[in-house]
Amino acid sequence: MELEERLIQYFEWFHHNPELSYEEYETTAKIREILEKEGLVILDCPLETGLVAVVQGEKPGAVQALRCDIDGLPITEETELPYASAHKGKMHACGHDFHIVAGIGCGILLNQRKSRLAGKVKIIFQPAEESSLGALKILETGVMEDVDKIWGIHGDPTNETGVLGIREGYVTAAVDRFVIRIKGMGCHGAHPDDGTDPIPAAAATVLALQTIVSRNINAFHPALVSVTRLEAGNTWNVIPETAVLEGTVRTMDREDRALFEKRMREIAENTAGAYGAEAELEWIPGPAATYNDGAMTEKSIEIARRRGLQVVPEESSMGGDDFSFYEEKIPGCYIKVGTGKGAAIHQPEFQVDEKVIFPTAAYLADLLIQ
Ligand code: NI
Repeated sequence: MELEERLIQYFEWFHHNPELSYEEYETTAKIREILEKEGLVILDCPLETGLVAVVQGEKPGAVQALRCDIDGLPITEETELPYASAHKGKMHACGHDFHIVAGIGCGILLNQRKSRLAGKVKIIFQPAEESSLGALKILETGVMEDVDKIWGIHGDPTNETGVLGIREGYVTAAVDRFVIRIKGMGCHGAHPDDGTDPIPAAAATVLALQTIVSRNINAFHPALVSVTRLEAGNTWNVIPETAVLEGTVRTMDREDRALFEKRMREIAENTAGAYGAEAELEWIPGPAATYNDGAMTEKSIEIARRRGLQVVPEESSMGGDDFSFYEEKIPGCYIKVGTGKGAAIHQPEFQVDEKVIFPTAAYLADLLIQ
């Protein structure tokens, strides 16, 4: 069977059998089975889920990595695909099944062209991207220590099949989570003067937080804050003791990120204080912004043009990717691959056009050989 047909068959298996973050046991076993059958070398790497394959070129050169994430999402699939998810409440709704087979295909092609490959390529089948922290599992093993640069791909249903979205600089945002706990003093709803109502303090805080974007951050720097949960009280005639705000902050620039945390703490504490209450900020950092290296971006566009692939300038996104953890020490480049226009990622109707699989694998192989 031709490689393209085999990759499509593998893709359908992975799509049919999605697993959630940190639970990718069958996925890992299947990737291992395929790589062994296809004659690739798998590194001995202490990973619970996920694995790393390696192709050693016959010419001297740098060590490159290709990151492919492997996890699905807790979503019930609503497509008509004959190979739709076999598990209710689990779905490859972010196209990581496509990333897996693009990585496998790239590995097979590189293995066939080892005589032309300079240096070494590590193909990282990374667990738990959706948790924002799966990259740390790979980094903990030390497998990235000799790597000089890293490439990554992500499927994109806003572009036609095979169209590449590439931009230099910031691609996705830093993803931070926050919880603000406001403490007042509960009392009867008819006697607010007997207590300290945390609700006006919470309401004022929600509005004041938006001034960080409008008053503290450089107007040319993308940044946002979304309060996504606001909880207080449980009935109509009792003023509650506490109120909780939770949400996410997205920034690109490192200094903006630090400034955001500082201003958020000041606003939360002082706004609550103004209403006689107390507030505490818990800041839960996630991945930093992903950043595309200039030289790597140029190379990725040049190889695409040489293969006759269409390249469009990618818009940066306030979404995130834990790919940035790899970029803390080495340069990286994260390329969007059009999977055919349709439902957005993380939606139950999302699907990947299978025609994109083989050309993506071939493109990545060319990119890693150059
Ligand atoms: Ni994804």
